[in-house]
Amino acid sequence: MHLKPVIAANWKLNHTPSDARAFLQRFLAQAPKLHERTLIFFPSAITLTTVVDGLKDRPEIWVGVQNVHLEAQGAFTGENSVLMARDVGARVVLVGHSERRHVFGETDAMTTKKMALIAQARLTPMLCVGETLAERESGQTTEVVERQLRAGLSELDDAQIGSIMLAYEPVWAIGTGRTATPEDAGEIHGGLRRALVSRVGEKAAAGIPILYGGSVNRGNASQLLAAPDVDGLLVGGASLDADSWASIVRA
Ligand code: PGA
Repeated sequence: MHLKPVIAANWKLNHTPSDARAFLQRFLAQAPKLHERTLIFFPSAITLTTVVDGLKDRPEIWVGVQNVHLEAQGAFTGENSVLMARDVGARVVLVGHSERRHVFGETDAMTTKKMALIAQARLTPMLCVGETLAERESGQTTEVVERQLRAGLSELDDAQIGSIMLAYEPVWAIGTGRTATPEDAGEIHGGLRRALVSRVGEKAAAGIPILYGGSVNRGNASQLLAAPDVDGLLVGGASLDADSWASIVRA
């Protein structure tokens, strides 16, 4: 099966609602409907409804949230819930992004729980996996990403696994200007695909998009996308500028 590439913008803690309005005006003016791509924006929770509103004439473009709390509701001051995300039109939720893991101490056990919560809410979880530089240099890349993958899937049934998205984001490549080579990305993605095949079988595994993330920009996007088993891109810094993003989505 040939998957439609998924090109996703992770805005992190950037772009106020006003910035997002200006961004969308400029981006949409140069982005005709792309039938052969699925586009996703991950704005901050506060900017989310502005982005949903700004895309009301472009329902083919998806919107997602960068994180949700472990519980769907309750006394958790300061958190955001999967039910609220769904209610305002989010379709995807990032889980286990490296900044969640390494800045906020999110553990594999937490990603297990979030993946199940999001799947139960019938949103699409996008599980992020990736090794640190130290783990890479000590030859632990495969072990680390497969452990993170197992944890993320452990409470999902086969049908739920078949509807997830996965992102390989080596921690040493995020925001550093260092990118995995297309060969390296292809190799790790191939390993992740095999792990998915052994969990849910060939057919379901072939339908799960595996995105690459980590210093993607307009200069390297098309080469990375051409690597085997790379079905999309998760882009941070280079997604913040409307012109740069418009050229990446056409990569
Ligand atoms: P970057 O971030 O493109 O700025 O490296 C990617 C990400 O963290 O999702």
